[in-house]
Amino acid sequence: MIKYLGLFIAVLILSCSDGRVGGRKVLISKIDSLGKKIKNVYKPGFGEIMSGIQRHHTKLWFGGINNNWKLASFEIHEINELLEDLEEYQSSRKETRFLNMISPDIDSIKTAIESKNVNDFKQKYIRLTNMCNDCHIKTEYEFIKIAVPDKNPFSDQKY
Ligand code: HEC
Repeated sequence: MIKYLGLFIAVLILSCSDGRVGGRKVLISKIDSLGKKIKNVYKPGFGEIMSGIQRHHTKLWFGGINNNWKLASFEIHEINELLEDLEEYQSSRKETRFLNMISPDIDSIKTAIESKNVNDFKQKYIRLTNMCNDCHIKTEYEFIKIAVPDKNPFSDQKY
């Protein structure tokens, strides 16, 4: 993709640099519209991002209950990044407005991770999970019910 893009821009420059008045303007506007196209080439969907969040939510649990605090901290960081992706790529969806309702629970589970306290972690995890569901209810996706995982679906990962 990048290789062809370079070629395309080179052809554009050659075709526009023949000294004609306005050639530069044409070039700039073409590059501009190309830039816009690239921006929209890959735009992850709301559900796709949520599926990613679900994976990290699961691993967060197994990280925490197994005292793997580095992993737990990594997973909460990944969840945060995906929430930011929602803001960036799905700002036009009305559901995105409710995103900030989960921030306090993310912050409080971070504190439990930092203090390496399994019992506190478990409580905060349940609260976070309830908040996932609260948002699903608010956005009329109440049929998507998130729970505390009872088994590790990732048999290829040790905690
Ligand atoms: C801002 C509100 C909001 C929050 C907070 C939220 N969700 Fe969602 N979630 C949604 C919406 C809206 C959908 C439906 C997305 C769609 O249109 O595909 C969804 C869908 C999902 C899906 C279904 C994805 C699929 O395609 O099968 C899962 C799984 C999910 N969420 C997990 C979670 C988890 C885990 C959390 C908490 C860590 C969470 N969600 C927090 C709004 C939210």
